[in-house]
Amino acid sequence: MTRRYDKYKFCLNILNILLFLLDITLDLLKTLCMETSNYTICYFSDETIPLTDADMETLFTRSSTFNNAHNIYGIFLHIAGKYLQILEGNKEVIDSLYARILEDGRHKNVYEVFNKKTENLIFKEYNSKFSIVKTTDDLVDINDYLESNRYDSRCDKLARLLAPFLMFREA
Ligand SMILES: Cc1cc2nc3c(=O)[nH]c(=O)nc-3n(C[C@H](O)[C@H](O)[C@H](O)COP(=O)(O)O)c2cc1C
Repeated sequence: MTRRYDKYKFCLNILNILLFLLDITLDLLKTLCMETSNYTICYFSDETIPLTDADMETLFTRSSTFNNAHNIYGIFLHIAGKYLQILEGNKEVIDSLYARILEDGRHKNVYEVFNKKTENLIFKEYNSKFSIVKTTDDLVDINDYLESNRYDSRCDKLARLLAPFLMFREA
């Protein structure tokens, strides 16, 4: 009787260990999936009405605070009535943010340049936080970074997208 009980206890222990290992494996797979479901969204848009400096500053600050708190990388710039934004991060997180951005009445004519899965987060490597591009120097730095990574086709495309903004700033 005791022997059978010991056997039963042994089996239960093995089962517990297996369940524990399964739990760890599932956690690991979940983490891997989260890491591989990174997306990049890039769009241009037109402002609807010009924001005051104070309102623009508020938009920039709120955006970077939210994005940094949610591991969203990328850049946000406003030049000559146009917005350019690149959002990189976990698909679910940036999709729900992007849905809100699309509904925002402060801009219109959103032209999506790309919205696709990405293997590496370009802007996480550039600057480990979300970048608000306010000065010519900021823009030049980003452009230099993209130019130096031109072997990556997305950097090449982004550098080409930034070029007109750079020319505008230099004029
Ligand atoms: C061009 C543009 C870009 C924006 N980008 C961001 C952003 O990157 N992060 C963010 O949190 N809000 C951003 N916003 C603000 C959002 O549209 C929205 O106001 C904010 O997420 C708050 O949403 P809620 O009022 O529904 O909570 C942006 C707004 C505009 C007009």
